[in-house]
Amino acid sequence: MTAEGLVPHYARVGADPVRDAFAARRAVMPWRSRRPLPAGEVEATWARLLADRRAAGPRLAYVHVPFCANHCLFCGFYRNAYTPQAATAYTDLVIAEIEREADAPAVAAQPVEAVYLGGGTPSALSAAELSRLVAAIRRSLPLAPGCEITIEGRIIHFDAEKVDACLEAGANRISIGVQSFDTAVRRRQGRRAGKEEAIAFIEALRDRDRAAVVIDLLFGLPGQTEAVWREDLAIAADIAPDGVDLYGLNLIPGTPLHRAAAAGKFPDAPTLADLGGMYRAGSDFLAGRGWRQISNSHWGRTPRERNVYNLRIKEGAECLAYGSGGGGLIGGHSYAVAPDLQTYADGVRAGRKPIEGMRVSDTLQPLRNAVTAGIEVGALDVGALAALAPGADVAGALAPLLRQWQSAGLVALDGDVVRLTTAGRFWYSNLVFAFDAILCAGAAAPDAPRARPDLPSDPRKTRELS
Ligand SMILES: C[S@@+](CC[C@H](N)C(=O)[O-])C[C@H]1O[C@@H](n2cnc3c(N)ncnc32)[C@H](O)[C@@H]1O
Ligand code: SF4
Repeated sequence: MTAEGLVPHYARVGADPVRDAFAARRAVMPWRSRRPLPAGEVEATWARLLADRRAAGPRLAYVHVPFCANHCLFCGFYRNAYTPQAATAYTDLVIAEIEREADAPAVAAQPVEAVYLGGGTPSALSAAELSRLVAAIRRSLPLAPGCEITIEGRIIHFDAEKVDACLEAGANRISIGVQSFDTAVRRRQGRRAGKEEAIAFIEALRDRDRAAVVIDLLFGLPGQTEAVWREDLAIAADIAPDGVDLYGLNLIPGTPLHRAAAAGKFPDAPTLADLGGMYRAGSDFLAGRGWRQISNSHWGRTPRERNVYNLRIKEGAECLAYGSGGGGLIGGHSYAVAPDLQTYADGVRAGRKPIEGMRVSDTLQPLRNAVTAGIEVGALDVGALAALAPGADVAGALAPLLRQWQSAGLVALDGDVVRLTTAGRFWYSNLVFAFDAILCAGAAAPDAPRARPDLPSDPRKTRELS
């Protein structure tokens, strides 16, 4: 790429970088740059992949539970209303799906380092269903010793019996979407528990002392002023769970909040500059309390919080996916399990893996994975990228841009290692986008499939594109 080709990726200099470095945020979807496989080839390809006992590096598993008690206004992950009947039937189907693949050479090929039960709301399932599901996972998948098993949930309907069921079955990490502790902010979004109930719930989980407890906080919600945000952070730090995620609100098309904003009913919608300022406030606050930043949106307080699944996903680890709406990756092929519940149920009942779409990685995927993983942890070794792009002058191609970003306050250059500042971490998707464009544009990107890992099209991960 010529020097002029780098200019669109330059950041503003002289401004407050966390607020103003770029005019817009770039989206970098996990399935970017992958070639869709024709629908007629999916079934045979899946059979071939399942029969292959070669594994490419660390393995993960993801189980999707696509039910929610209500549609929270901000959320783009809602799919189906929870009913006890639907949830029971669904649990049976997912267990059948997991058990059917248990003996496949591809599943047995490699120990699974982390399992994530995400949604939707896994904690909407009954205690008996949660117990059955986790037991089936432990019985059917080759879990590595110390395998991280996360259950995602929310406060309402996650009673002590359900928590016990998860812990007894072997879950060792519980991730709770709190979003905000402020009662008015919560209720406006359809979150029924108030502040006191939310605090008491997280404290009770923490006091059990049997699993890593992690909470999600959102910033930029309607009515969530900077003062409310600081209060959210202070409450979270005082409760002292093992980890916390800070996510900037993404106004996702199709969500009730997006519709409200389009109709002028969200006049205080935060600008990107506002979100940048709130991110910095969160990052500085947690650093001041001694928390360690594990990734761009995740902080840990205790060693019990390892965040294995989320970090490995960014590295491009292989991931076995189960359940309607789940996304996985194996043998260089990413796949989506049918998000429509009926299509999913019909497929499982007919003895088929209900795959809705499959995509194939190209030869540049290891390079993209290395860039994504390095930027996610805030330190990218540019020298190491050369081995993944033979014949290309990676350092030379990037040097003018990296110097520009340094003067704009997004990165600090430390030999071959590019270290992201807080501003760089807030704008990480623009950095990934630029690396992709510079390193992959013009380079040969053949269509041939390759047996290397890639990022699964895990629906949970799209939230990080905010
Ligand atoms: C897949 S959702 C599941 C959350 C869980 N069911 C709950 O109700 O808390 C995981 C997380 O994505 C984040 N999220 C959801 N919608 C978002 C949005 N519009 N922008 C940014 N993050 C979002 C929230 O922090 C949420 O806890
Ligand atoms: S925030 Fe959780 S409960 Fe609410 S709609 Fe999204 S996934 Fe469902």
